Amino acid sequence: MSKQQGKWDVAVVGATGLVGGAVLELLARRNFPIGQLYPLASENSEGKSVEYGDHRLTVHLLDNFDFRNVQLALFCVPSDVAKVHIPEASQAGCTVIDFSDAYRLDPAVPLVVAEVNPHALAEVSDGSIIASPDSSIIQCLLALHPLHQRNPLERINAVFMRAVSELGQAGIDELSSQSIALFNMKEMKSREFSQQIAFNVLAQSGGKKVKDGAKQEYHLQQELQKILEDPDIGMNVTATQVPVFFGHSAALHIEFKDKFSTEQAQKLFGTQTRIRLVNEARQARFATAVSHAANDENIYISRLREDPSWDRGLNMWVVSDNIRTAANNGVLVAETLVKDYL
Ligand SMILES: NC(=O)c1ccc[n+]([C@@H]2O[C@H](COP(=O)([O-])OP(=O)(O)OC[C@H]3O[C@@H](n4cnc5c(N)ncnc54)[C@H](OP(=O)(O)O)[C@@H]3O)[C@@H](O)[C@H]2O)c1
Repeated sequence: MSKQQGKWDVAVVGATGLVGGAVLELLARRNFPIGQLYPLASENSEGKSVEYGDHRLTVHLLDNFDFRNVQLALFCVPSDVAKVHIPEASQAGCTVIDFSDAYRLDPAVPLVVAEVNPHALAEVSDGSIIASPDSSIIQCLLALHPLHQRNPLERINAVFMRAVSELGQAGIDELSSQSIALFNMKEMKSREFSQQIAFNVLAQSGGKKVKDGAKQEYHLQQELQKILEDPDIGMNVTATQVPVFFGHSAALHIEFKDKFSTEQAQKLFGTQTRIRLVNEARQARFATAVSHAANDENIYISRLREDPSWDRGLNMWVVSDNIRTAANNGVLVAETLVKDYL
């Protein structure tokens, strides 16, 4: 099959994982023009199959795969694996969309939120690498970019409350097993997280692998600045881990160049197809990861209000499904690429 026939041969690398599974589901649901589809994973998955629409497809071993067989690869694997195999794929002429943080801050690699900076794809050609941002950054930008276009952002103070699925299936397994152990008064083990995550909140996200939380948070600011092409926008992040399976929450305090009322922001959000405002203040019901975000591609905003301490400030609560937000962005980037750039 060739792209001249309007179909693309595609590899989904990490197809057995959380992001890879969501990517497969979205590719099928959105009728992405696929010729041959190759789900790839590690030797742990040999013999397994994954769902793609109404079909089940056999998983192949990444280590044996020849990337000359595909024109597009979506890499949904840990960054150390991405760093080994993405250069091979790129050299084989395959265009790569990477979900890991391996290339996000590489100046030669476009970092793209499909609805915010698709123009960053202009220089892309066969063999290019494109990075998809951290889920919290995609979530923030989908909420803030419409406001930024109207009234430039100057500074964001953000507290991210990140779900355990940030660590993939392993994070989910650990929250489940710790909860079961606690209910059964058994010994509880922490393998992925540095401290107990069940019924607890951790001051830093990302689990044991993150040695320097402040550096990781600083990288999030750099991602935002790269996408908005503005090194002067300040972003002060505290990324915490909460015992939620799916859905990152964010408490954002935003400072604008000029005064911006909640009514103006509300009106603007009303024009955005993927933003849902949830405000049932009388019943004290607001957007939550569990009740609104999980298993959904939309961005939910609650508690939009003016900052009483700063006349150009707004506060808001934003939630979205971290896995769906990431997968949806990668698939939208792929759609934009095949439609307009490759
Ligand atoms: N989870 C999130 O909220 C999120 C959001 C944005 C971006 N991301 C990024 O997306 C990537 C995937 O995350 P995830 O949450 O989907 O993780 P996950 O559920 O743990 O899945 C990891 C996938 O990578 C595969 N893999 C691991 N080592 C491999 C190797 N040596 N060779 C081939 N395949 C290998 C696994 O295959 P096996 O099943 O065979 O082991 C599995 O399919 C990561 O880079 C992550 O940082 C995650």
